[in-house]
Amino acid sequence: MAVSNPTLYLLSFLLFSISLTPVIASKSSYVVYLGAHSHGLELSSADLDRVKESHYDFLGSFLGSPEEAQESIFYSYTKHINGFAAELNDEVAAKLAKHPKVVSVFLNKGRKLHTTRSWDFLGLEQNGVVPSSSIWKKARFGEDTIIGNLDTGVWPESKSFSDEGLGPIPSKWRGICDHGKDSSFHCNRKLIGARFFNRGYASAVGSLNSSFESPRDNEGHGTHTLSTAGGNMVANASVFGLGKGTAKGGSPRARVAAYKVCWPPVLGNECFDADILAAFDAAIHDRVDVLSVSLGGTAGGFFNDSVAIGSFHAVKHGIVVVCSAGNSGPDDGSVSNVAPWQITVGASTMDREFPSYVLLGNNMSFKGESLSDAVLPGTNFFPLISALNAKATNASNEEAILCEAGALDPKKVKGKILVCLRGLNARVDKGQQAALAGAVGMILANSELNGNEIIADAHVLPASHISFTDGLSVFEYINLTNSPVAYMTRPKTKLPTKPAPVMAAFSSKGPNIVTPEILKPDITAPGVNVIAAYTRAQGPTNQNFDRRRVQFNSVSGTSMSCPHVSGIVGLLKTLYPSWSPAAIRSAIMTSATTMDNINESILNASNVKATPFSYGAGHVQPNQAMNPGLVYDLNTKDYLKFLCALGYSKTLISIFSNDKFNCPRTNISLADFNYPSITVPELKGLITLSRKVKNVGSPTTYRVTVQKPKGISVTVKPKILKFKKAGEEKSFTVTLKMKAKNPTKEYVFGELVWSDEDEHYVRSPIVVKAA
Ligand SMILES: *[C@@H]1O[C@H](CO)[C@@H](O)[C@H](O)[C@H]1NC(C)=O
Ligand SMILES: *[C@@H]1O[C@H](CO)[C@@H](O)[C@H](O)[C@H]1NC(C)=O
Ligand SMILES: *[C@@H]1O[C@H](CO)[C@@H](O)[C@H](O)[C@H]1NC(C)=O
Ligand SMILES: *[C@@H]1O[C@H](CO)[C@@H](O)[C@H](O)[C@H]1NC(C)=O
Ligand SMILES: *[C@@H]1O[C@H](CO)[C@@H](O)[C@H](O)[C@H]1NC(C)=O
Ligand SMILES: *[C@@H]1O[C@H](CO)[C@@H](O)[C@H](O)[C@H]1NC(C)=O
Ligand SMILES: *[C@@H]1O[C@H](CO)[C@@H](O)[C@H](O)[C@H]1NC(C)=O
Ligand SMILES: *[C@@H]1O[C@H](CO)[C@@H](O)[C@H](O)[C@H]1NC(C)=O
Ligand SMILES: *[C@@H]1O[C@H](CO)[C@@H](O)[C@H](O)[C@H]1NC(C)=O
Repeated sequence: MAVSNPTLYLLSFLLFSISLTPVIASKSSYVVYLGAHSHGLELSSADLDRVKESHYDFLGSFLGSPEEAQESIFYSYTKHINGFAAELNDEVAAKLAKHPKVVSVFLNKGRKLHTTRSWDFLGLEQNGVVPSSSIWKKARFGEDTIIGNLDTGVWPESKSFSDEGLGPIPSKWRGICDHGKDSSFHCNRKLIGARFFNRGYASAVGSLNSSFESPRDNEGHGTHTLSTAGGNMVANASVFGLGKGTAKGGSPRARVAAYKVCWPPVLGNECFDADILAAFDAAIHDRVDVLSVSLGGTAGGFFNDSVAIGSFHAVKHGIVVVCSAGNSGPDDGSVSNVAPWQITVGASTMDREFPSYVLLGNNMSFKGESLSDAVLPGTNFFPLISALNAKATNASNEEAILCEAGALDPKKVKGKILVCLRGLNARVDKGQQAALAGAVGMILANSELNGNEIIADAHVLPASHISFTDGLSVFEYINLTNSPVAYMTRPKTKLPTKPAPVMAAFSSKGPNIVTPEILKPDITAPGVNVIAAYTRAQGPTNQNFDRRRVQFNSVSGTSMSCPHVSGIVGLLKTLYPSWSPAAIRSAIMTSATTMDNINESILNASNVKATPFSYGAGHVQPNQAMNPGLVYDLNTKDYLKFLCALGYSKTLISIFSNDKFNCPRTNISLADFNYPSITVPELKGLITLSRKVKNVGSPTTYRVTVQKPKGISVTVKPKILKFKKAGEEKSFTVTLKMKAKNPTKEYVFGELVWSDEDEHYVRSPIVVKAA
């Protein structure tokens, strides 16, 4: 990418609007959401044209003429989602919002993008051998399941998307390969579809040139996520020889489709609502089975969030939508993508690390990590300097210690190992700034917030990332020593790390601030140092100065854990094509574990026991998910009733769904929503809630066991559920009661497990706070 500086885009946008916009009420780009369509699945182009015309007529009645409407509308959502995106002035937008046919009107906002050892770690293979108990064998590696990805597009030439050995494209597929103006872009029997959506982005940045007319991934993110979900097996994958192994996705024999909705960032956002909705509408039409969505904004309402709206329509059509929880941890309440029809995924480590030891002149040594290909020359120690002491005269202390651009004095840095503090600018940017200032190497120290969370990046210079406490020791050594020196060893690949998984500090956490009665995230999966395919348009650090090109790169984020679950969903879809998205989510959640690989409770990055607010039901266990025993099912009506319970307007709910659905007259309690986790955010004395489970195994008898949250008594009725056949459903109630008179007003955690004492442990977290 020639330009990655967001300010450049902003600047061109401002110039554009100043020079071309006449001095009348300024327009903004809006999404006008009209709910669902009444037409069926098989659409004729006449149907689609009719919808477009109806949008022109409808908006035209506000603007004066259909022609004017046609000019301001830049998307008509015609297939499954009903609505349009248009340039409107605020008064018209406000009037539209009041019209009874309109569910919501919202600004076209930007959203963030939030080898692979991980499958070994998850038990799908053992040293490259796939045991017969693996879901991979049983689900034929996700054969012919179709996984779509809303992201930065795809690098189609990557070996992860080669179609060698794959049969014809599944006949149900309706998608296309829209290569736009990029004639070098090709699909095949693996990458069966690609589309790009840039009009919402264009309305924010101004007109776009031809390089934006392509689904090609010039960033790396989309190639990485899509190959993690459904990439082929590619032998001898590594990052500069580290982490060598066979790269593969969770559903390695799935077919994949890329929906490019994210572009170079403007003010930190790269994916716009209007484009996201258009992509969902297309993907539903194209008949994907799974949608992987590693992006999101701040959690808010369900009718003005493009990802929530798009996901609803997809789930209604049986498509499972998997979303990332966000990278805004470890703050409480930071989780996004909280709709109960989405699967929301947090991120944790796997049992592999890339140690690069930091040795100090006082004989202390610390285990850091790195994936840098550059190594220090020779074995001599180098002078060590804290970035604070290498401050440029015009920089602030903070800018200096963070190693921001222009904040370092090259005269002080040259030939030394520089210590930078994590935070604000990208880790790999700090490496680049260190290199530009002439450092021979960089030690990257965590701030307290990041704890022990160490990330191995492919820095442009020799580097090692160390924990907060180790960083303190390094700074102390520098402070107390006249001529401090240090050395860093060449990174190696080491397994198995214990304990693992550990929750990533960046992984966004509950409670769910929109509907605290629904626990989010739902699950955690590997999202730290994940190696998968990458773009060749950029180097592994995505920095302008990085001229290196890699086939595979290590990236971290909930963006990386999300497609792990998407790949696992692909396998479950192959095994159980008729299961609802909720049944698949239930199988994944109730079979998860809260234990790590030393059989202790999963920790967070400060060595403290993590909670369901970090990992939801726990760490995903794909082999167990294929045989969940019981499932907590939900259908579209249940989701609509959920919206009724939240107090959304009944009229809007019925337009939203177009199912002639009416909210029930009786009050609905969110506590009874048949979710696989139980959350009561304001317990006043006592509550009795209900759940219903469906037997998806053989006839058997389940007994309940409960681990009570501290200070809460839990009574389950009945305690035994006897199932005579598969498909049978049974209800039970759970009564939660406060034991203490003056309970602590903090969240407490427990669990409820239905077990047939054989192979099934159907586990649900219980999360309670006294009112
Ligand atoms: C298109 O615009 C981008 C961003 O402004 C620029 O980096 C690129 O060089 C342009 N490409 C062409 C083909 O003009
Ligand atoms: C494996 O990849 C490395 C570079 O990543 C290359 O040097 C080596 O020749 C490859 N080995 C095989 C057997 O393909
Ligand atoms: C979205 O909707 C929610 C609830 O309906 C509301 O609280 C929020 O302010 C809305 N956000 C925007 C940006 O319109
Ligand atoms: C470091 O260890 C070496 C070898 O054990 C020893 O000779 C040297 O004195 C030690 N230096 C310090 C500063 O402790
Ligand atoms: C300090 O001045 C240099 C040279 O003019 C400039 O490149 C750099 O960006 C400035 N740094 C800061 C932090 O303002
Ligand atoms: C090292 O010195 C700096 C500046 O004098 C100070 O801010 C910092 O707290 C010291 N660090 C340690 C670990 O002693
Ligand atoms: C793990 O620990 C639990 C108790 O905390 C024990 O019941 C179980 O047998 C242990 N499992 C293994 C594999 O050690
Ligand atoms: C770990 O959990 C403790 C206790 O909840 C919390 O104070 C700390 O900030 C958490 N650390 C991280 C990195 O999440
Ligand atoms: C339903 O909820 C409303 C508002 O919370 C309450 O006033 C009313 O009494 C409830 N009705 C029933 C039948 O529980």
